[in-house]
Amino acid sequence: MADFSLAGKVALVTGASSGIGRRQALALAQAGVAVVLLGRREAQLQAAVAEIEAVEARAAAIFADLGDRDQLPKLAERAMAPFGAIDILINAAGVNFRQPTEEITLESWDTTLNLNLAVPFFLARELVPAMEVKGWGRIINIASLQSSRAFANGLAYGASKGGISQLTRAMAEAWSRHGITCNAIAPGFFPTELTAPVFKDSDQLDKLAAQTAIGRNGELSDLDGLTVFLASPASDYITGQVIHLDGGFTAK
Ligand SMILES: NC(=O)c1ccc[n+]([C@@H]2O[C@H](COP(=O)([O-])OP(=O)(O)OC[C@H]3O[C@@H](n4cnc5c(N)ncnc54)[C@H](OP(=O)(O)O)[C@@H]3O)[C@@H](O)[C@H]2O)c1
Repeated sequence: MADFSLAGKVALVTGASSGIGRRQALALAQAGVAVVLLGRREAQLQAAVAEIEAVEARAAAIFADLGDRDQLPKLAERAMAPFGAIDILINAAGVNFRQPTEEITLESWDTTLNLNLAVPFFLARELVPAMEVKGWGRIINIASLQSSRAFANGLAYGASKGGISQLTRAMAEAWSRHGITCNAIAPGFFPTELTAPVFKDSDQLDKLAAQTAIGRNGELSDLDGLTVFLASPASDYITGQVIHLDGGFTAK
């Protein structure tokens, strides 16, 4: 019988103040995980914590800007304060400035590559020693259709998401022998603040839905099953994989 049990585990979810990270935090909490939610916006994070506590699960918030890489060791310590060492890290914080190629600046490039690619590695590296002590851990990155496809106005974002696919494999190579698996979820189009410009355009949305095999774009609840599976012992032998959660968008 597959072991989906997560009771007693502790997770840190970045980007948990909205969208995909927030949903994943809720899914883990409902599966029995004590969840630490990280983001910059206090009101949004507090609302997410309240939503989790309302289903009688455990949650705590950390208000922090991940853009400052020097602070990552301290952040990792803060993340362990509420419930103990982190077993599961979800790197869901991310930005997409959707700039035409000629408008990309050094600053917007650095912000994108730092938050979407560097932070998932440097934050994970702070948390891995405690996972190694337990001989078990989970790192879940968030990739994208743009990990393997080029979209208009997506040059910097696509570079970061192509990078996260390879980072996922490299992290798996580095840490899986210690029981720490690393995989990425590559979502199709899901309605969040990041994709608000896309979801405002009903023609484009219809085209994107038609591009999937299933015939619709993502709903946040579509994230729950894969998130819990990749976090649980049932996925012990899966590592270094980028799993498309896209209704078959990339299959067509
Ligand atoms: N939505 C989709 O269809 C889709 C598809 C493929 C991949 N993704 C990926 O999914 C991940 C989540 O995106 P989303 O769609 O859920 O968008 P979102 O709702 O805009 O969420 C982005 C999250 O990142 C956090 N964040 C941004 N900058 C931060 C910083 N400097 N420090 C700390 N936290 C920061 C935001 O929190 P604060 O503003 O509170 O800091 C927010 O919680 C991203 O990696 C994105 O690339 C999304």
